[in-house]
Amino acid sequence: MKIDIITIFPEFFQPFLETSIIKRAIEQNLVTIDLHQLRDYAHQKHNKIDDTIYGGGVGMLMQFPPFYDALEKLRTKNTHVIMLTPQGKVYKQKKAIKLSQKKHIILICGHYEGIDARVDNFIDEEISIGDYVLTGGEIPAMILSDSIIRLIPGVIQQASSEEDSLQNGWLKYPQFTKPDSYQGFDVPEILKSGHHKNIENWRKRQSILKTYQKRPDLIKTIKMTDEEKQILDEIKSKTDK
Ligand code: ADE
Repeated sequence: MKIDIITIFPEFFQPFLETSIIKRAIEQNLVTIDLHQLRDYAHQKHNKIDDTIYGGGVGMLMQFPPFYDALEKLRTKNTHVIMLTPQGKVYKQKKAIKLSQKKHIILICGHYEGIDARVDNFIDEEISIGDYVLTGGEIPAMILSDSIIRLIPGVIQQASSEEDSLQNGWLKYPQFTKPDSYQGFDVPEILKSGHHKNIENWRKRQSILKTYQKRPDLIKTIKMTDEEKQILDEIKSKTDK
């Protein structure tokens, strides 16, 4: 997998690329991330890449030619081009899974009042990381990259990403580590029983309970098994009393 990021602030990404799991994924060649300074493609003096808006309007717009030239250089026929913008579709884990299967992604980070609309001709999709407005697309580009890279086989233990909260729609069950008792707060007995089937059932129920309590909005998006439906109905009938 290769990710190219087009930005006017490449330095923003350094700690992200040089820390922890992302750093290791790069070192192991599981992903290549290249940063491209948009100003290197400027057509104006002093590497200026923005200008006033035709027809009038407040602020400046990023110009079309630097993006055109950068995309012309970086794109191949297998490239998926994403623009980070609050106008895009809101990002979800399902999309991260889809994107983790791509060979080559280009992320475009916008700034100022936006980008000349001619760039739209070269965009495969627009993605927002949530319904709020940030100063630029750099943090959203890191969020996408992080969520995609950790799903690439070999980056983290497969079982770990398969058990992610949201991966199968449900939130993850609560987990505990040593000590088993501290200041009167105890680890649930069942988790120490060594009885795998009981533990699995307990975890499934906890996942469903937690989703119902914390993120009931997610429930309508989940494709449930009959067993999950039954557990949810039980939880509802108990908690609604
Ligand atoms: N740029 C500014 N705000 C953004 C958001 N919420 N998502 C993606 N890109 C953005």
